[in-house]
Formats: sequence, C-alpha cells, structure tokens
Amino acid sequence: MPSGPSQTGAGRSHYLHGTCPHEQQRLAKLNDILNEASLREIELKGGEKTLDVGCGLAQLTRALARKAGPKGRVVGIERSPEQIAEAIRRATAEGEGSLVELRQGEAAAMPLRDDEWGTFDVAHARFLLEHVPDPLAVVRGMVRAVRPGGRVILEDDDHDVIRLWPEPPGFSPLWTAYIRVYDRLGNDPYVGRRLVSLLHEAGAAPARNTWIFFGSCAGSSSFEAYVENMVGLVQGAGEKILSWGLLDAKDFEQGVSALGAWKHRPDAAMWFAMCFAEGVRPPPK
Ligand SMILES: C[S@@+](CC[C@H](N)C(=O)[O-])C[C@H]1O[C@@H](n2cnc3c(N)ncnc32)[C@H](O)[C@@H]1O
Repeated sequence: MPSGPSQTGAGRSHYLHGTCPHEQQRLAKLNDILNEASLREIELKGGEKTLDVGCGLAQLTRALARKAGPKGRVVGIERSPEQIAEAIRRATAEGEGSLVELRQGEAAAMPLRDDEWGTFDVAHARFLLEHVPDPLAVVRGMVRAVRPGGRVILEDDDHDVIRLWPEPPGFSPLWTAYIRVYDRLGNDPYVGRRLVSLLHEAGAAPARNTWIFFGSCAGSSSFEAYVENMVGLVQGAGEKILSWGLLDAKDFEQGVSALGAWKHRPDAAMWFAMCFAEGVRPPPK
C-alpha cells in the first residue's frame, strides 16, 4: 500500500510525460521491451533488499522482486498517485499484489524510516534523473540509503546518441524540439553521460559503466514497439513543443507522421542506448 508524504510547491520537478492512461500504456510497453536487458545488467543474485526510485508502474520493480526471491525485499518510491494506483492495479491483476511495497514520495526526499537508511543492498533508478532538476540530490539520497558495500545503479537517457537510418523527413528538428522541452522544464536531456560523475560526486565509488542497446530494425519483432514508443514520446510533448514555439505546427505534424510511417520501411534501422552506471558505497572512514 502507498504511504508517506508527497512533495508539492517550490522545487517540485516536472515530469514531462505525464500520467494519462495513454502514456501509461506507452511506459508499460517500453518496460516489456527493455526489462530483460535491465535485469541482466542489474545482476541481482537473490536475497537483496532493493530500492527502486521513481518506479513508475513498478513492472521492473516487481521483476527485481522476482529475481531477489522470497528472501529479498523490494520497496518502490514513486511521486505520482496515478502511477501508484495503476502499478497496484497491474500487480493485482497479475497476482502479484503483495510482491513489492510501494510508497508515495519524492525521489530527493525519500520516505524512508530512520532505521531503513543505510540498510539497502541495492538502490536503483531508471529514467528518473532526466526528469529532476537536481539529479545529484537524488543520487546522494540513494547512496545514503544503501549499506556500506551496497550498490547504486543508475539507468538513464542521453538523447544525443540516437541514429535513425534512412532518417525520416523532419526527424532531426522534431527530436531537437523534443530535447529542448527538457531544458525548458529545468531538466537535463543528456544526464546519461553524467551518471558516473554523479555517483562519484554523491560519494559512491564508480564501479561500472556501460549502456544497454535500445534499438532495432525492420524485420525484428520488436521494431514497431520501439518506433511507437518514440512517436508516443514526441506526441506526448507536442503541446509543450507547440506552445513554446519550439517547432511550428506543420513541421511537428509532418515530422510525427513521417516517423510513424517509417516503421513500415523494409530498410529502417534505429540505434539508441540507455546509459547504465553502477557505484558502490564505500565503508565508513
Ligand atoms: C519514465 S518513468 C520511469 C518509471 C520506471 N523507473 C521505469 O523504468 O519504468 C519516470 C517515473 O518517475 C516519476 N517521477 C518523476 N519525478 C519524480 C520525483 N521527483 N520523485 C519521485 N518520482 C518521480 C514519474 O512519476 C514516473 O512515474
């Protein structure tokens, strides 16, 4: 059951994608195509006490709990009551209503009890730091949440590392406009490249840096899902792109429609990557 405070007012970060049912569908489908790769890299051995920060619909949170097994424990932190409600609905429908504990709260001020700080084996966040104005504050909290020797795992986007070929007409200005929405909201669209440095600055010893391929091509069973995810992302940001004058309406419509049609090309290929970094909380001095 959700518990704990939610933060409102000054300093509140902006979640670009929102939480309407259509967006929740997009996020759920994204989990379907990415979770196996994330789980492989996170490498739970079993029995871990794990924190999943900004857990969204908690699909990966539940997958972590399945990996950790009956001796493990997983707590998900999520700010949005709508996401938590949908996470509970999905978990219950899949017979996993009590697999994880979900708490409503702010990533930079996590609702942990005094006796929980410094006790987690793993603190993990995926696609969260790109949505907060002060990612370092979040990573500091994650380092504080794990025990000495505990792992802090960050997965996030660097929106600069995308390639589509043959590039759909109008894609480049469309993607640039989408990236600019992050800046305007006060968030960092390139935070993925900073993950190791954030770990270091937050007091964790960096231990691993890699990325997870987030791409596909025509002929692969996952290709449509990847393209539809991208269409959903830019469409979801459409209102902001247009009202902030980041692209004119005609270019926006044409760019989105060319991207949607691109998934039918027999020669289309896309490369994108999710940055992945891991650090370890050092022993006390
Ligand atoms: C893109 S979703 C990713 C969800 C999940 N980590 C995943 O990979 O499927 C980002 C989530 O972070 C939540 N979020 C954004 N800002 C937050 C904050 N400051 N504190 C807690 N949660 C936040 C959003 O509500 C959203 O559910």
